[in-house]
Parts: sequence; C-alpha cells; structure tokens
Amino acid sequence: QTLPRLYHQNVINHYSNPRNVGSFDKNDPNVGTGLVGAPACGDVMKLQIKIDEDSGKIVDACFKTFGCGSAIASSSVATEWVKGKSMDEVLTIKNTEIAKHLSLPPVKLHCSMLAEDAIKAAVKDAEAKRGKMNGNSKAAD
Ligand code: FES
Ligand code: FES
Repeated sequence: QTLPRLYHQNVINHYSNPRNVGSFDKNDPNVGTGLVGAPACGDVMKLQIKIDEDSGKIVDACFKTFGCGSAIASSSVATEWVKGKSMDEVLTIKNTEIAKHLSLPPVKLHCSMLAEDAIKAAVKDAEAKRGKMNGNSKAAD
C-alpha cells in the first residue's frame, strides 16, 4: 500500500486516526462551541471545548469536520493542543503552527485556518456563557 507522498506522516496519522472526534452538549454551560466554514471550499468544522468551572482551563475537546483530510487532521491536532490550557493560551495557537506540524502544502493552508478560527469561536462562545453565568459581560462584543 502506497501513501500519498505529498503528505507528511503526522497528517496521515491524524487523518487515518483522528483524535477526539465527537460532540459535547452545546447547551452545557461549561462547553464552548465553534462552528466555522471555509468560503473557498465550503468545508465546515465544529470544535468544542469543555471548561473546568473552577480553574477556567480547557479539560476536554472534540470536533466534527465535514471537509478534506487536511481539515480533519488540523482539527484533530487542534483538539490535542487545547487540552490542559487556559482560554487565553489557546487564542495564541496559529494556523501556521498547525500547518507546520502537519507539513501541509501551501494550497492546504486554509484548512488549518479553519482550525484556528474554530478554536477562537469556541473560546468566544465559552467566555460569553461564563460571562452570563458570572453576571458580567466581558465577552460580549
Ligand atoms: Fe498529533 Fe502532534 S502528531 S499533535
Ligand atoms: Fe477546504 Fe481543506 S480543502 S478545508
């Protein structure tokens, strides 16, 4: 069996064995949901994070991606990277880091961009929910 030479081992690994595929209840007050689409190709990615109420850290993450192999691999990596971090920390994750980790070719950069956007959207959702719970409106913009 031959593997496409275009792709690095990490992308094949995350494509054929994606981590953290699934869904959390989006109505759970400790779950943030990011749903984003790529205008270029119409692919869609949903990434969810679960926040520990006390520490504010991300304790779990999952995704569902209707898209290409690079988008699936990017979301898989993203869910691995956000676990154990604070919401502020994961906002610094750049799509270029994900693309580098997977050795994505330039035409596939937008696939990793979906993952960065999905992380940001999930954090925004989680912060908005927490703001509501704590009675402040920090994340409302
Ligand atoms: Fe999986 Fe690095 S190969 S996150
Ligand atoms: Fe669009 Fe990969 S080709 S997300």
